[in-house]
Amino acid sequence: MHIEIQRKAESSLSKQIYVSIVDHIRSGLLQEGIQLPSVRDLSKQLGVSLVTVVKAYKELEQDGFVTSVQGKGTFVNTERKEVVDTKQEAYSFNWQLSVQDYLPRSQFARFHQVPERIHLSSSMIDPGLLPNRNLEREIHQVLSENPRILSQYGEIQGDAQLRHAMYEYLKRLGVPAAPENILVTSGSQQGIDLVARTFVGPGDVVVMEAPTYPGAIDVFRGRGATILTVPVDHNGMRVDILQNLCDKYKPKVIYTIPTFHNPTGSVMTPKRRRQILDIAQSIQSIIIEDDPWSEIYFDKKPPVPIKSIDPYGHVIYLKGLSKTLAPGCRIGILVASGSIFSRLLAAKANTDLGSPLLTQKAILPFIKSKKMTDHMKKLRTALRIRRDMVLEVLSQHAPSEVSWIIPQGGLNLWVSLPSWIDTNHLLLEAKKQQLTFLPGSACYPVEQENHHLRLSYSYMSEQLLHQGVTTLCNIFHSEISSKKVHESSPYF
Ligand SMILES: Cc1ncc(COP(=O)(O)O)c(C=O)c1O
Repeated sequence: MHIEIQRKAESSLSKQIYVSIVDHIRSGLLQEGIQLPSVRDLSKQLGVSLVTVVKAYKELEQDGFVTSVQGKGTFVNTERKEVVDTKQEAYSFNWQLSVQDYLPRSQFARFHQVPERIHLSSSMIDPGLLPNRNLEREIHQVLSENPRILSQYGEIQGDAQLRHAMYEYLKRLGVPAAPENILVTSGSQQGIDLVARTFVGPGDVVVMEAPTYPGAIDVFRGRGATILTVPVDHNGMRVDILQNLCDKYKPKVIYTIPTFHNPTGSVMTPKRRRQILDIAQSIQSIIIEDDPWSEIYFDKKPPVPIKSIDPYGHVIYLKGLSKTLAPGCRIGILVASGSIFSRLLAAKANTDLGSPLLTQKAILPFIKSKKMTDHMKKLRTALRIRRDMVLEVLSQHAPSEVSWIIPQGGLNLWVSLPSWIDTNHLLLEAKKQQLTFLPGSACYPVEQENHHLRLSYSYMSEQLLHQGVTTLCNIFHSEISSKKVHESSPYF
């Protein structure tokens, strides 16, 4: 188990230990019944006092994440039960845990193979809306035209024809990207990882929006970065706060999702796009512009990407194809220039020597043809219907204490509950009813807020979506009313 400690961070050491262990539990990396290291071992391993570890463990126990058993040790409760089975055989000493890793958290592990029937947790498109038949035919075609395709490496930078097709495609989105500035990655997750492994090391400052995409937090945390956060409002990242942070800390990397932000759905205004670029230029930082779904807009087209106004190569632009075309192909596009590009290409070589050629060849005819444009139109219509339906169910059935941001595009809707509701707890209730969503805490890199959740309306059929959101509203009602009854708290 890797616990990262940052002595210069604002939160206390015991809080950092607490957060790290909670992240491991929520990620599924620490499972029910696993014994945590003894207080003595952990304090030695981390170079902190016994008191610090005791404080962290006490807080974990108070919040129901672990149970201490006299004379035996401290054990994980994934379900946050107040009382656990204290029979000795329920616990196991796990030698594997004594092998140190460098993995602070991985939120994807939490939703790995979820058995639930109604997934509102994944920003993924309903497979019924994706061009599976078409891609299946193309795979056969590619194999029949080049039966040896699996016995060869592709170009590390990515197939030249695909890069050319993406150059044409990106031009229509307003992104200038010559084929030689394009790198094909295994999804945009790999794009984020390549930037992190190339430019971010322990203690380097990375700025992220709060909330943000959990998978990016996991990557930067894994590099030992010092993460600073900037809140997001209806107009995207609060650039005034970013400016203050940058004046003080000069971050190396600023990670942003300006268009239909994940998880809030907000869209950064053109003015803020200009300002964020000006800031990056003034302090010589890199901006990662993650743009998985700007083509999925419901009303008007969003502003052009920051990359389109970037003459000096500060922006590394990522366009994943998982959210619009085929997550199984694992293809994303990274656009950068100059020595930043060549170093990222070198990192790609070190990582996997290039993405698989078969899937790159298979998507090529689709991307090059009008089919891609027609498909995007279809997606916009289908997802707009789903978004509208969710908004209708929420406005009819959600308690008055619940609010949400109406997304103008993308796949997600951000819901806020009263501050005294913990959506991690709601998730346990939801799972009992075969339903999942993403608890907001997963989306905060530093100080977690527990009373939000992300609801993805893109994956389930309309019928199951309706059923799921109605059930969720019932869970909101019962949770809010039971808290009101049971808590004689100053909140009321
Ligand atoms: C904002 C954002 N970036 C990147 C990714 C990674 O996607 P992929 O690697 O499939 O392109 C996701 C996936 O959900 C995402 O939401």
